[in-house]
Amino acid sequence: MSRLTESPAWKALVTHHAAFRGIHMRELFAADPRRNERYTLRAAGLTLDYSKNLLVEATMPLLHALARQQDVPGWIERMFNGSRINSTENRAAFHVALRATTPMLLDGHDVVPSVLRVRAAMRRFTDGVRNGSIVGSTGKALCSVVNIGIGGSDLGPLMATLALTPYRHTRITPYFVSNVDGTHLAEVLKRVQADTTLFIVASKTFTTQETLANATSARRWLIDQLGTEDAVRHHFVALSTNLAATGHFGIDAERVFEFWDWVGGRYSLWSAIGLSLALAIGMDEFEQMLAGANAMDTHFRTTPLESNLPVTLALLGIWYTNFFGARAHAVLPYDQYLARFPAYLQQLEMESNGKSVTRDGEPVDYATCPVVWGEPGTNGQHAFYQLLHQGTPLVPADFIAPVYSHNPMGEHHRLLVANFIAQTEALMRGKTHAEVRSELKAQGLADEALERLLPHKAFSGNRPTNSIVLDRLTPHSLGALIALYEHKVFVQGAVWNINSFDQWGVELGKQLAQRILDEVGDSAASRSGSHDASTSALIRHMLRDSARI
Ligand code: F6P
Repeated sequence: MSRLTESPAWKALVTHHAAFRGIHMRELFAADPRRNERYTLRAAGLTLDYSKNLLVEATMPLLHALARQQDVPGWIERMFNGSRINSTENRAAFHVALRATTPMLLDGHDVVPSVLRVRAAMRRFTDGVRNGSIVGSTGKALCSVVNIGIGGSDLGPLMATLALTPYRHTRITPYFVSNVDGTHLAEVLKRVQADTTLFIVASKTFTTQETLANATSARRWLIDQLGTEDAVRHHFVALSTNLAATGHFGIDAERVFEFWDWVGGRYSLWSAIGLSLALAIGMDEFEQMLAGANAMDTHFRTTPLESNLPVTLALLGIWYTNFFGARAHAVLPYDQYLARFPAYLQQLEMESNGKSVTRDGEPVDYATCPVVWGEPGTNGQHAFYQLLHQGTPLVPADFIAPVYSHNPMGEHHRLLVANFIAQTEALMRGKTHAEVRSELKAQGLADEALERLLPHKAFSGNRPTNSIVLDRLTPHSLGALIALYEHKVFVQGAVWNINSFDQWGVELGKQLAQRILDEVGDSAASRSGSHDASTSALIRHMLRDSARI
């Protein structure tokens, strides 16, 4: 048994949860007309209404006691003071320094000047590309920017570039290639012209198989198209911590934008990894995004747990995961520009907290990260919301929406927002048997048919949601929103006593893929019985012609 589940704060929550049965949020709202005020927080331009959660007066104090017991305030300080909290890699997790406005010391050395130096280089480069003074090898302005990267070197820039579409430069079209499936690159190459395309090879390690395969093919294509290897230096830049490998790939040192090992891949959007975004929206807007994140950082670091937005989101997640047995968490942005936000959060949350041993390597005896998923509203309403409303699992959900749209066309935004609000109300209220009965009676349904239909049309309700509202989706509010979730993940990791900053779980698949590749064509190796029967048969069947594939 780990200490967490035996601890007083945990046990108090177990007891509290047992006494919770039979409580319905409808009644809680009826009993307290000011419940929303009690459970609404504001920070960095975001509003969180968490009143539609399974909370009574005693609940949050018990969750705060758990956070204190697990030393969440101490962990927050350790993150901000550059401690090596990523213990298995002996690194700091210092992404907050990328958006800091005051000195940030790592091993006694202020990292902010280096951050600003790279940012200044990003500004020179992005300004030059955007104003046409930096051109391709034939002298033409660069119009297409292809970011080649995967995981944290793709999801953040991709999500944010889509989210900030209204801020984009009209000449520059961004593309993102991540999948090692050649189709991904091939389809992009069909749409761009070599002489007006900039390739950004984004890879922290510069060893990632998918990225190097895509970058190598893109390089070959460029040389074929433009007829000279010299074109590479005009059309390729790299974003990496591995300057030796970028040089080896043939990218000029002055076209490499550096970052550091204390920037985790899934926390790297704020670093040079954001170059594709900065090219699209310009450095001023990019810095607005940093400012939004910094505003959330300041709130997170300085605000008591009780009114701290990231802490609140984190503790609510823990309440459902560990005490109600929820195994999934939905993220439902009511803004088409946030279409890739759930995918971005999947890496942020699941790669960070998909762990089953504590920092000391002890197996946990409690659940950690739930499955995070989602789609923009209202599309999801016509796909999977049925399960959210009437399915057997409890799926807590974050609803995210702006008050104002960038595209105020006709009735659209009113319709969108009405749906956003209605869904959280429906999930909370449900529909009782009595309500269904009187509705069906009013429709003139005969008793027998009515009783048959009744259980199908009733909704239990009592399903928890958070409403996260921003005024408008801007670089600043997006920065604050992303930082909100980064810190939520961090707090959950602190409570669960896991390392949120490593990702060893992705290694085994990589190793085995390499082994399979090494064995292809080596019939002795493939007969050697090193794989199970299924794996061997799949290798024989699918890679028999691999030279041709
Ligand atoms: O395989 C997982 C991972 O290491 C992620 O953590 C990371 O964001 C991604 O691969 C890409 O890594 P890199 O930026 O080094 O290419």
